[in-house]
This record gives sequence, structure tokens and C-alpha cells, in this order.
Amino acid sequence: MDTFLKYAYFEHQFIPFEDAKLSVATHALHYGTAAFGGLRGIPNPQNPNEILLFRLERHCQRLSQSAKFLHHDLPADKIYQIIIDFVKKNKPNQSFYIRPLVYSSGLGIAPRLHNIEKNFLVYGLEMGEYLSPSGIKCRISSWYRQEDRSFPLRGKITGAYITSALAKTEAVESGFDEAILMNSQGKVCEATGMNIFMVRNGQIITPGFEQDILEGITRDSVLTLAKDLGITVVERPIDKTELFIADEVFLCGTAAKIAPVYQIENFKLSEERPIATKLREKLTAITQNEDPKYKDWVNVIPLD
Ligand SMILES: Cc1ncc(COP(=O)(O)O)c(C=O)c1O
Repeated sequence: MDTFLKYAYFEHQFIPFEDAKLSVATHALHYGTAAFGGLRGIPNPQNPNEILLFRLERHCQRLSQSAKFLHHDLPADKIYQIIIDFVKKNKPNQSFYIRPLVYSSGLGIAPRLHNIEKNFLVYGLEMGEYLSPSGIKCRISSWYRQEDRSFPLRGKITGAYITSALAKTEAVESGFDEAILMNSQGKVCEATGMNIFMVRNGQIITPGFEQDILEGITRDSVLTLAKDLGITVVERPIDKTELFIADEVFLCGTAAKIAPVYQIENFKLSEERPIATKLREKLTAITQNEDPKYKDWVNVIPLD
């Protein structure tokens, strides 16, 4: 059972999490007309009176862009301020995850985005490791990622996650930890809530933005870190069979961080993962604000 943070931001105010309730007729519940964000925070290991958030500005920007797809004007700086206030109000003392949601809050029948009230809420929960950092076993999903021509894939629109849910359950019920989805072109796309990378011959390779992926913030961080470490980075379409013979495969996302893959379908991958391990260690140090070079990625929030 998840442990939720004490206060939620709901209908323009902070109230106890248990009191933040929606009507059964809420439009977003029926039509998937909502979009969410997700970011991690930790108490500063060097100072328990501070909270560290990772890449808050970029998360707020992406959520603001997602809101735009829902025909709702929600400026990134407004989200930013509410999240800072949310953290100060909750004073979390464990590593945690913040879930902001913009949603069609109006009560009404008929899928649409016009003439329907929108709202914004934030809640949080304590969160440790989401997937085993020692390695996961993936299945190639029988479900395909949606296409950008029929879905705004650059937004985290809730309705899209039925595909992730189908793929994840299919994977878990058939003995795997996670699913890797292909795109409609039959190329490797991403996992159910994570972007994918492979290492071949010392190069890091990941599908580009034109491959129907989510514009992941961890993906962006990994690409920057890899370049800074002098590793060649290539964004290009990936065939399924390349994954089976890759030197390393890993998934990355806010919740999962960097999760190495030890098996895909019935193909075993090497237990030696020098690049994924290096990137994971680097990312962990950065999120703990221990790497001055990437201080801009970390928001330090004092708990007055
Ligand atoms: C479908 C999907 N792909 C990729 C990601 C990884 O994105 P990020 O690194 O921004 O968390 C997520 C998680 O938000 C996701 O839901």
C-alpha cells in the first residue's frame, strides 16, 4: 500500500489528501482528458531541512505543454510555484514522487476539449525503487505504441496509458517484469513508462523523437551525461533484433531511474554493464546534489 503525502493541492488550495475527492461524473475519468507529470524528490542527504527536486523547470514546462493539448492554459511558472508550496507544506522525510495532474474537471457527457471546465491538482507519495536496479526481464509487447498522427505523444495524456497498462499486465502475467513496445513502423519505441537505450560497440543508441517516443526528461539527462563522459550518442531507429545482441540495454524514467535489462524474451544479455552502471552512479550523485557541474538540474527547497 502506498504512503501518500499528507496534503494534496486540490481545487486551488491545500487540503488533507483524504479529502481531495472527485465526482463520479468527472469528464476526465470517462474520456481520458487529463495529463500528468511525475517527478522525484529526496531530503537533501547533506541537510535534512532541505528537499532536492530533479529538473523541476523542465517537468513544469512539459506539463504546461501537455495542458495545451487539452486546450488549457496552465503556465509552467504557475505549476512551478504550486509544486514548491506543495513540498514546503508536506515536508517529506523520505524519497518521494510528486504527481501533478491537469484534468477536465467539468461534469458532462461527450468527449470534447472545448466548453468543459479544467482544473489542476497535485498529490505525492513516498517512493523507493520502482524496478529492481539489479536488472529486469523484458518481453516484446504484442501491443504497439500509438502514433503521433492520432495522439499527442509529446504530452503525458492519461488516455494513452491504456496501452501501457495492457502491455505491462501482459508482460507481468507471462513472467516478465516489463514490456518493450514497438512503434507502428515495427521499430523499437519505449517501455510502458520509460525510454529505452542500448549500447553497441561502445556507442549509446536510442530511438529519436520521430519514433513516437515520449520526450523523456531522464532520457535527455542520460544523453547529456553520456556526451559529457565522451561516449558517442546516436539517435536512430532500432530494430528489435538489435536489442537481442546488444552489449547493454537499459530503460530510464523518473520513477525507474536507470534500470538495466538482463533478458529480453528468451535472449540473455551480459551481466557486465559498464556504461549503464556509470550513468546510473552519475545520475544518482547528481540527484543528491553531489556534482557541482549539474547543479542547475537540482532545485534546493528549504523547509522553513
Ligand atoms: C510513456 C513514457 N515514456 C517515457 C517516460 C520517461 O519519461 P521521464 O524520464 O520524463 O520520466 C515516461 C515517464 O514519465 C512515460 O510515461
